[in-house]
Formats: sequence, C-alpha cells, structure tokens
Amino acid sequence: MNLKIKSSKTLWLVLTLIVSSIIAQGFAQQAKEKKDHDKDEKPSNLKILDKNIGGEELHKIMKMYSKSLGVRCGFCHVANPPLTPGGKPQMDFASDDKPEKKVAREMMKMTEAINKKYIEGMVDKDYGQITCVTCHMGRETPVNNVDSLQTFQPHILGPKK
Ligand code: HEC
Ligand code: HEC
Repeated sequence: MNLKIKSSKTLWLVLTLIVSSIIAQGFAQQAKEKKDHDKDEKPSNLKILDKNIGGEELHKIMKMYSKSLGVRCGFCHVANPPLTPGGKPQMDFASDDKPEKKVAREMMKMTEAINKKYIEGMVDKDYGQITCVTCHMGRETPVNNVDSLQTFQPHILGPKK
C-alpha cells in the first residue's frame, strides 16, 4: 500500500521533470530561431526597400510579411542544405531563387502604388493605408470569393440558410 503511494509520487516527479524539460527545449529552439538571422549583417540584395535600412527595421518588416501570409521565412527565402549542427537548414536571404520572393517584390510595389495613387488623400489618414494583411488576412492567397466568407468568417454572413 505504502509502496504504491511512493511509486505514484515518483511517477509524478518523473512526469514533471519530463514536461519541464520539453518546455525548456522549446524555449531553447525559439531562441535559436531568433538568432538565425544576424541583424547586424548588411543586406546585399535589396531592390525595393532602402539599402541602408537597419537590421531591426528589416526584421520587423519581414515578420510582418510572414504574419500577414501566415507563413515562415522559408516561404519566400531559400533554405540550403546541409543542415546546421542544430539540425536547421542554412537560410540564404539574399538569394532570389524562390518565385515567392519575386511575387512578394511585385506585391510591395503594388501595395505602395495603391496607397500612393488611390488611397492617399481620399480617406481618413489614420485608416487609409493598406498593408499586406489587408488582403492576405493570414493566408498565402487572399479570399477572392464572397461565398468563401462562409468558411473563413462565418459570423459575417450569419447562419447558413
Ligand atoms: C512574403 C515573402 C517574404 C517572407 C515571408 C519573408 N521575406 Fe525576407 N525578403 C522578402 C523580399 C521580397 C526581400 C527583398 C526586398 C527588396 O528587394 O527590397 C526580402 C529580403 C530579406 C533580407 C535581406 C537579404 C539581402 O541580403 O538582401 C533578409 C535578411 C530577410 N528578408 C529576412 C527574412 C526573415 C528573417 C524572414 C522571416 C522572419 C523573412 N525574411 C520572411 C520577402 C519575404
Ligand atoms: C490588394 C490586395 C493585396 C495586397 C495588399 C497584397 N497582396 Fe499578396 N496577393 C494578392 C493576391 C490576390 C494574390 C494571389 C495571386 C494569385 O493567385 O496568383 C497574392 C499573392 C501573393 C503571394 C504569392 C502566394 C503564393 O501562394 O505563391 C505572395 C508571396 C504575396 N502575395 C505577398 C504579399 C506581400 C509581401 C504583401 C505586402 C507587401 C502583399 N502580398 C500584399 C493580393 C494582395
């Protein structure tokens, strides 16, 4: 009887240890991913953004693109094998080999054109700028059919009749 209680306590201790080590590993992995892109490294292949942009600023924009489309950096940027000792591919951020990066450049020009040519001065300045998320809403390809709101934003259309 006593033995049973003891062993279940040990079991809990072991479980707690396992769970906390998994959580710690997760944090370590996150820290590693954050370090992947060296913010002090000067960009070498910017065609649209200001070539003298600071590392922090560039990273903020790239994070915004990723969130807006619901993707990770590798969606637009080449990941080269071999894996690093940490088991991650080496990112080649300057490479233009991924078609998604080229589309993204066109999207940057388009977004700027819409803002400059069509929106500026037309509507309330505070709300009148569009960005990637305006269309993408966390998706690689924007919704382009009003009926698909039924799937993605059902509350807008109300219950199906
Ligand atoms: C939706 C596509 C897209 C995503 C997602 C994306 N990027 Fe980019 N990235 C670009 C484009 C386009 C450029 C080039 C901009 C230009 O030409 O001015 C670029 C340029 C860069 C550069 C400069 C490379 C050089 O040397 O010229 C770095 C560094 C970079 N991105 C890092 C990241 C990181 C880190 C992430 C993930 C957090 C990320 N990117 C996510 C599209 C993307
Ligand atoms: C006015 C709406 C609009 C805005 C703003 C917009 N996009 Fe897009 N984007 C689209 C549409 C529509 C498509 C799908 C085109 C297609 O189906 O070929 C698309 C496709 C893409 C793709 C290709 C996705 C794939 O699956 O290959 C990328 C990358 C992309 N957009 C990046 C961006 C980035 C980065 C921004 C902000 C700088 C942006 N977009 C802003 C409408 C928009």
